[in-house]
Amino acid sequence: MTDINIDDSAFASLKDKVVIVTGGSSGIGLGTVKLLLATGAKVVIGDLNPPPQELLDDHGQSVKFLQLDVTHWKSLVALFKQAKEAYGPIDHVFANAGITGKANFFDDTTDENGDPIEPKYSTIDINLTSVMNTVKLAIFYMKQQKDGGSIVMAASASSFQRFSNVDYTTAKHGVLGLLRGLTPLLHPRLPIRLNAIAPSWTDTNLTPRPILEAAGATFQTPHAVARSVAFFMSSGGDSARHGQLIFSHDGKYREIEEGMLEMVKVLLEPLEGGGASNLEIMEGLKKLFAQGKIQMPPAA
Ligand SMILES: NC(=O)c1ccc[n+]([C@@H]2O[C@H](COP(=O)([O-])OP(=O)(O)OC[C@H]3O[C@@H](n4cnc5c(N)ncnc54)[C@H](O)[C@@H]3O)[C@@H](O)[C@H]2O)c1
Repeated sequence: MTDINIDDSAFASLKDKVVIVTGGSSGIGLGTVKLLLATGAKVVIGDLNPPPQELLDDHGQSVKFLQLDVTHWKSLVALFKQAKEAYGPIDHVFANAGITGKANFFDDTTDENGDPIEPKYSTIDINLTSVMNTVKLAIFYMKQQKDGGSIVMAASASSFQRFSNVDYTTAKHGVLGLLRGLTPLLHPRLPIRLNAIAPSWTDTNLTPRPILEAAGATFQTPHAVARSVAFFMSSGGDSARHGQLIFSHDGKYREIEEGMLEMVKVLLEPLEGGGASNLEIMEGLKKLFAQGKIQMPPAA
């Protein structure tokens, strides 16, 4: 667990880089698009809704918008193809589009037979499955590029807490799972870095501000969160960050994934009277991978 001071001068390395941002028309996505454009990056936005017209007017050559629903695979494919056709290799992707929870586990509505109705899982479709698809496409393109690229995903402070926005929390835990599952398979085996952001309350269309203020919440700006996204994108080379999660709160930043994994090691210490511990088995799998006896590294 490390508190991070973000130095904006590092963002200069993003000049002329090509970046795809899903959900880039509002909130954290829009804040990121503005920050990237200010550094001289070229940005392609994929969103259900258009960004503010003045953004398109002010940055005509450097920004493109494709109206799409991230839950449609073919639309996502078109987004990547159009970005590449317009600007060349895709350097960074921000898988950000998201909505709040929709499923109600305590709704007693029944159908014509008196049977309970299946909840709607659009939050899982948008906040998790579509993030997985965006990451899958990013890997497809970045694998073909000499310099690879980097991916940032929108997780949340609900990725690792009890938070009763149930399907939202489930999806965001899934994003953390995606980070953990893919981390051993990318950098340095492939020139692709994957990281995620975990913002605390941020002033966007997603957050019910009056309720949260009554609970004592303060709100950081989308720009503050955008800085953590740009930080990951620009932290390549010797300072390459990979497999990390930056929690942001009130415009302050902390990397928390490395610390959480250390805690997990403590939790998994051998159980009295048990067989080989889970940690020992992981070490065994690592040895088998090093000997070429299994294809997938179990951990980085
Ligand atoms: N606001 C917060 O406090 C907060 C905290 C943690 C994480 N996040 C995450 O940040 C991300 C951005 O959310 P935000 O707070 O900026 O909200 P927002 O509502 O301001 O922006 C979300 C954007 O995603 C787009 N979008 C939604 N569904 C889409 C779809 N199916 N296809 C294409 N675009 C779609 C919306 O049109 C919108 O432009 C989300 O993943 C959210 O879960 C937000």
